[in-house]
Amino acid sequence: MHAMDQRFIDRVYESLAFEHSREGPPDDFPALPPIPGGRYTDPEFLKLEQKFLWGRSWLYACHGDEIPRAGSYLLWNRSGSSILIVRGEDNRIRAFYNTCRHRGGPVVRDASGQAKDSFTCGYHGWTYDFEGRLKGMRDRRDFVDLDFEDLCLVPVRCESLGNWLFINEDPQAEPLLDSLGPIAAQMQQFDLENIRHIDTHGFEVECNVKVLLDAFLEVYHLGSIHQHTVNRFLDHRGTSIILWPRGHSLMVTPNRNPDWVDPGTRGMIEFQDVTELPRKTNVSYNIYPNLITPVAATGLPFLNFWPTGERSMYVECHWFSPDWGDGHRHELWDQRIENFDRILAEDTQFAPKIQKSVESKGFKGIKLNYQERRIYHWHEELDRRIGIDRIPQNLRVSPRLSGLVEGRGD
Ligand code: FES
Ligand SMILES: [Fe+2]
Repeated sequence: MHAMDQRFIDRVYESLAFEHSREGPPDDFPALPPIPGGRYTDPEFLKLEQKFLWGRSWLYACHGDEIPRAGSYLLWNRSGSSILIVRGEDNRIRAFYNTCRHRGGPVVRDASGQAKDSFTCGYHGWTYDFEGRLKGMRDRRDFVDLDFEDLCLVPVRCESLGNWLFINEDPQAEPLLDSLGPIAAQMQQFDLENIRHIDTHGFEVECNVKVLLDAFLEVYHLGSIHQHTVNRFLDHRGTSIILWPRGHSLMVTPNRNPDWVDPGTRGMIEFQDVTELPRKTNVSYNIYPNLITPVAATGLPFLNFWPTGERSMYVECHWFSPDWGDGHRHELWDQRIENFDRILAEDTQFAPKIQKSVESKGFKGIKLNYQERRIYHWHEELDRRIGIDRIPQNLRVSPRLSGLVEGRGD
């Protein structure tokens, strides 16, 4: 399959021109009923979301560079369970519940590290190899009916797109690459086998995870909170949006000046096969549910939004660069990451206040417009994943956008 074919690119350009000149939403665009505020606050709803969304989706976990050798591991707990991700002797990366098969002790305690030849549970010393097999134990003579093969660490689904590793706690989940739909092929332009991980950091924000995630699904806010930054070079009125099945979406925002190049990336190495679109416009994917990636010819961040409580969340920012060969990464990277964090701070500044506000009696639901339709699409998918019958009537989102979703059934 071609990375991002010319037909697709031409279509996006046509759409950008249309969006810029339109005087209202297209005639067939439906009115969107308000999204119930309880979806951001109601404990019962958030429990459903935890179980059916976070517990059953493909979620980005790490890049292969972070666990480079046999026995390199890290602990990952964003979906709710403690999960051990480890590179095996065969160079394959696997994931297991970090739960000893004896009495549930944590097999690994450090957030990341390099194991020598096995993992030893800290409670009574059972040992496991990097493929999760039980290898040894103390006082074996005291166990009756012991079957080592039956006592392997319990595996967790773990699949990759290039070197990017995703985890899904649902054993029945469809394969990652199927679930990504057209995004998997479009990402190939970023030289996925060689793209390098250069940084991961993050910070807590006091709001429900969706309050902040919503801000990354639209550019309607540019003229206010990014007035002196992003808004100076992006033209939000020309934004083109594509909605895909399974909640994924794409947003392409044109530069105000078509020849504009981000001075903060000038001179940086580019992905060899990158298409024109990420070079000339701002292209941002939402890999459902919580991965936003504004891709560029010179590298890209993964922004992950994780719930840490009903009213708290963690923003995680991973950066990836085209392979630059030997030596240090380009000197502009430090500044580039710092600049991006400043924009992120603009996005997060009101989030705790918005959370308070959506909990007040004065809040009657979220009234979305045409250019904010990715948010509505996101919520429609959430209801599909939870199962509409499980959701209290007053917290449901009424499906409106299915006619605008591309390639349904792909
Ligand atoms: S709980 Fe792990 S060895 Fe006992
Ligand atoms: Fe923003």
